Amino acid sequence: MAETFFITTAIDYTNGAPHIGHAYEKVLADVLARYHRLKGDEVFFLTGVDQHGQKVQQSAEKQGVAPQQFVDGITAKFVALWEKLNVRYDGWAATTDEKHKQCVRAILQRLWDDKGTDGQSKWLYKKSAGGYYSVRQEQFLTDKERGPDGEFGPEWGEVEFREEENFYFRLLNHKQWLLNLIDARSAAGKPLVIPEFRVGELRNAVEKLEGDLCISRPATRLQWGIPFPESFGAGFVTFVWFDALVNYISFAPGYDPAPARPPEEFLRLWRSIVHVIGKDIMIPAHGVYWPIMLKALGFADEEIPKLLVHGWWNISGAKMSKSLGNVIDPDVLADKYGAEAVRYYLVGDIATGKDSDFSEERLVQRFNTDLANSLGNLLNRALNMSAKYREGILNRRDAETPCPEFVQKGKASYLSQIDAGSGEPLLHQAIDSAINIAVGCNQLVDTEKPWALAKDPAQAQRLDAVLYTLAESVRIVAILLSPVLPKAAHGIFDQLNWKTELSGKDERFRLADAEWGGLPDGHQLGKPTPLFPRIEAPAA
Ligand code: MSP
Repeated sequence: MAETFFITTAIDYTNGAPHIGHAYEKVLADVLARYHRLKGDEVFFLTGVDQHGQKVQQSAEKQGVAPQQFVDGITAKFVALWEKLNVRYDGWAATTDEKHKQCVRAILQRLWDDKGTDGQSKWLYKKSAGGYYSVRQEQFLTDKERGPDGEFGPEWGEVEFREEENFYFRLLNHKQWLLNLIDARSAAGKPLVIPEFRVGELRNAVEKLEGDLCISRPATRLQWGIPFPESFGAGFVTFVWFDALVNYISFAPGYDPAPARPPEEFLRLWRSIVHVIGKDIMIPAHGVYWPIMLKALGFADEEIPKLLVHGWWNISGAKMSKSLGNVIDPDVLADKYGAEAVRYYLVGDIATGKDSDFSEERLVQRFNTDLANSLGNLLNRALNMSAKYREGILNRRDAETPCPEFVQKGKASYLSQIDAGSGEPLLHQAIDSAINIAVGCNQLVDTEKPWALAKDPAQAQRLDAVLYTLAESVRIVAILLSPVLPKAAHGIFDQLNWKTELSGKDERFRLADAEWGGLPDGHQLGKPTPLFPRIEAPAA
């Protein structure tokens, strides 16, 4: 039976247009989803947008439009970008969706109704708390916001002391449980967080945990969110993280918050889940709140999801930010260089889990070196030489055309890097491994010199073997790179005149077909057309 693979991404805030950080995460998840489809797994890829919260409310107010209208506009930009970048998801999580709102409310009600022996909810409680509140910034301030003189600076405007009643979700009671879970997963070689170097960070944060989580906001302060069920009393809106995290189950096939245990049809997919998130949202949201929320909803320890935590794209070592004016728009990049170039750069030039510096020059350089010079050149040479010396027809004589060692090794490395078991997928290395097969082929051309072989009739079989090796290797590289370069992979198959009956369909690519000897004896190759024309470097 096919294995399952459930992958999610963070859902992006809809208070501004998408940038390359958002694009990187979605392409990363898309590549993994496509790889698992290639393997024949049953895949569910869920992504979406986080549409509620104060930031959205404020951005909408600034533009003078209703929040729903505002988020619909930004959401459309995300959807269009994923379309342009060929991000192919199976589920779309938009948190203003009625189905999601109902799920959040049902969860709140369930947690409230789940009473202990004292007759109180085991998970939630209501409490009044006081603090300093900035009217201008609409938020409570902590000592961190005080200046060196101990006062709140002028940027906060009028600051007043306020008492507020809210609902809280218990975290502290579950601190030891979470620490044990983190340790048990690591001991079993299945760390809760990958790359594993982040486990220590999470563990420290859990140890330092001091309070429970305030999950409501009075409607006087925040309107743009999911109202609490009426049974909680009037005027409470759900805190945006308690709303957003729920997307992973509310939009998952088959979830129902009512039964004590999640439904089996839902768990079948869920058991293979990995949440792809950026390093900034591991603590506390995904590493602390979310596991405890799932525990509260009857999920077993082994059903607490694994987190794949990626690093950040920076600009010259600094964070991208609107105020610095250094935000890179992936839409503009895709128009300028093509979606495939953007996809290739974003997953190929960053080590999973680490940060990287964005550079347009690097994007162009990687494209030209790997795609134009290595892969594109190989495809072109393979087809041109076959056309010139053999009218485009492959002659396969088994004994003469074994799979070269560099192809075997390249494929084996690719597989162990992209599918790293309990470790993080090493996409940048997997890509290099596939490209190295093309590099090996180009070296083969340089050493075998088909143009010289062609002049000597005694070398006819050898020439056949070289030409077969080149075409067959390109076919395998196309399959291996198809998760990263879906469009180019189709282009390569088209030019190889291979599986044309499936042209345009993704089922055209299967990992099982990446075995040596797929192209049959007598196969007629197609005509070469440049697939990766060199990009001229951008003006400095
Ligand atoms: N809405 C929350 C997530 C809720 S998930 C239940 C959020 N949204 S976000 O728009 O700010 O960020 C979305 C994702 O983009 C996060 O995983 C974040 O880490 C990632 N990135 C934001 N900037 C980034 C870079 N500069 N580089 C790489 N990823 C970055 O947080």
